[in-house]
Amino acid sequence: MKQIFDRYSLRSYQDRPVEKDKIDRLIKAGFQAPSAHNQQAWEVVVIRDKDTLHRLSDVSKYFICLQQSPLAIVTLANKSDLVTPEFWQQDLAALSQNILLEAVHLELGGVWLGVAPRRERMAHVADILGLPETIMPFSILSIGYPKKPRSGRERSYEHKIFFETYGKEG
Ligand SMILES: Cc1cc2nc3c(=O)[nH]c(=O)nc-3n(C[C@H](O)[C@H](O)[C@H](O)COP(=O)(O)O)c2cc1C
Repeated sequence: MKQIFDRYSLRSYQDRPVEKDKIDRLIKAGFQAPSAHNQQAWEVVVIRDKDTLHRLSDVSKYFICLQQSPLAIVTLANKSDLVTPEFWQQDLAALSQNILLEAVHLELGGVWLGVAPRRERMAHVADILGLPETIMPFSILSIGYPKKPRSGRERSYEHKIFFETYGKEG
């Protein structure tokens, strides 16, 4: 799939808003992700407000790209909908990756900013967004139009693949 190989973490963006129909597509793609016991306990908050993006950029020094981002999607799990609570982070990871791949498909780009399981980041995001106790923030996906086209770089991985038993080459 082309989008997998074209994806890379995009941290600077054109000063251009992301269209509403594209935001809808991103979310739709996210909600198609697999989840444990099909619990689908995910929710999102869409952020386009510059002031909120700025406040979210203060959560970690690694979130600085939010200061010039036109769009962030904050991914969340709703504790009260969890069937198998121990898997919520894996479910949200699948949702996050779907959104980032759909972004490439829509000629956008983005980067995954890690919130959970860092308690201080989760508390800070919860405070900024006014999340109730039952809602746990997982990631912030910073998304926008790339300034110039670029592709992901191919990686070498042959040394990490084994066949039949660990350490055995194919
Ligand atoms: C769980 C997770 C947390 C991440 N957190 C950050 C972050 O806080 N800030 C950031 O700029 N990139 C973050 N990234 C993006 C990684 O730095 C990036 O995926 C990695 O360097 C590989 O580069 P690539 O995505 O361009 O292939 C995160 C990625 C993951 C999967």
